Amino acid sequence: MLFSAEKLVQSALIVIFMLYNIGYFNRLFIQKKMSDYAIKVEDLTKQFNSVVAVDHISFTVDTGELFGLLGPNGAGKTTTINMLSTLLHATSGYGEVAGFNITKHRDHIRRSIGVVFQEPALDSKLTGKENLEFHAMMYGIAKEERRERIEQVLGLVELNDKANVLVEKYSGGMKRRLEIARGLIHRPKVLFLDEPTLGLDAQTRRNIWDYVKKLNKEAGVTIVLTTHYMEEADYLCDRVAIIDYGKFVAMDTPARLKDILGGDVVSMEIDGNADAFVSQIKTFTWIKKMNRHDETLSLTMEKGERRIPELIRSAQKIGVNVTSVHLRKPSLEDVFLYFTGRTIRGGEAGQNDRYRQTMRRRIHAR
Ligand SMILES: Nc1ncnc2c1ncn2[C@@H]1O[C@H](COP(=O)(O)OP(=O)(O)OP(=O)(O)O)[C@@H](O)[C@H]1O
Ligand SMILES: [Mg+2]
Repeated sequence: MLFSAEKLVQSALIVIFMLYNIGYFNRLFIQKKMSDYAIKVEDLTKQFNSVVAVDHISFTVDTGELFGLLGPNGAGKTTTINMLSTLLHATSGYGEVAGFNITKHRDHIRRSIGVVFQEPALDSKLTGKENLEFHAMMYGIAKEERRERIEQVLGLVELNDKANVLVEKYSGGMKRRLEIARGLIHRPKVLFLDEPTLGLDAQTRRNIWDYVKKLNKEAGVTIVLTTHYMEEADYLCDRVAIIDYGKFVAMDTPARLKDILGGDVVSMEIDGNADAFVSQIKTFTWIKKMNRHDETLSLTMEKGERRIPELIRSAQKIGVNVTSVHLRKPSLEDVFLYFTGRTIRGGEAGQNDRYRQTMRRRIHAR
């Protein structure tokens, strides 16, 4: 009797050990945090030797939100995505994705997310469908289910008719769409898109924007995308974080970010008594800001297109000739300029400038 009880305990211990090894208890006991946030990040930092690639960033992304990280080359966008998708260990700070901790529950996060990498990662010797098959098998999706899901995701990015074509024969835009489809096959709660339209022509970019919007609004997938195209961030994102040298310099809806600038900019070139004209328009309370460079005036105001006739009339009244007028609606590029003193394009580094950029970052990190 004693012997069999001992045996029983021994067997029980073996079973517990096996269950532990296959992660059974993890799945049983890791309680997903009940939170409205799809992502929660506090003071997240990544340092590569002396380079601080991501520098104490904090933010949350609501479930169902389309959130953008906008910044120039080397700003830290990919590094942020890599930490949140558990491909890279954070140096310090806290991160939570789909309710799971990025350091403690890596497997759970990987099952809950889809990632479309900045660098294309398709097998060009396989067809579109075969690429998806392979990915679905890696996620352990059963054969019947696989067929249905592949058809569904191909339909979403309108590639059904190219399913059996080798990927090497796909255009750049088609490859990107296939990658998005692949990122969706296991029905992730959160999808990370790292520069989804990099290098694509304007028309293809627009198409991809439509798919991304559809995914977010109709399928309800929470999306975090990185981009250095401000029109992309402006058009697609519910909220945008502007990132520069690893730090967030601003974060809000595109409209509110642009509001910070105080309105439209009307630039006027005039011929005549500029001083008199300036004195006259100084009485207009709707002009929020005025800069003058000789005969050129730069005026900030709301609804600039409606104010231009009034400006021209007041110039004519005192015999000043308006030789040109230019109206500019503020863009996220202006917002970036406002916060950093540089343009995003100006802040971009080509391959040859990488070294300089890294050195600059090191200096910043000190
Ligand atoms: N594995 C690494 N080892 C060392 N430094 C790295 C590594 N990965 C990134 N960096 C550095 O970290 C910084 C941020 O790089 P990251 O790739 O995150 O920028 P990014 O915003 O995605 O830029 P891009 O728009 O060019 O994709 C850069 O200075 C880069 O050189
Ligand atoms: Mg990147």
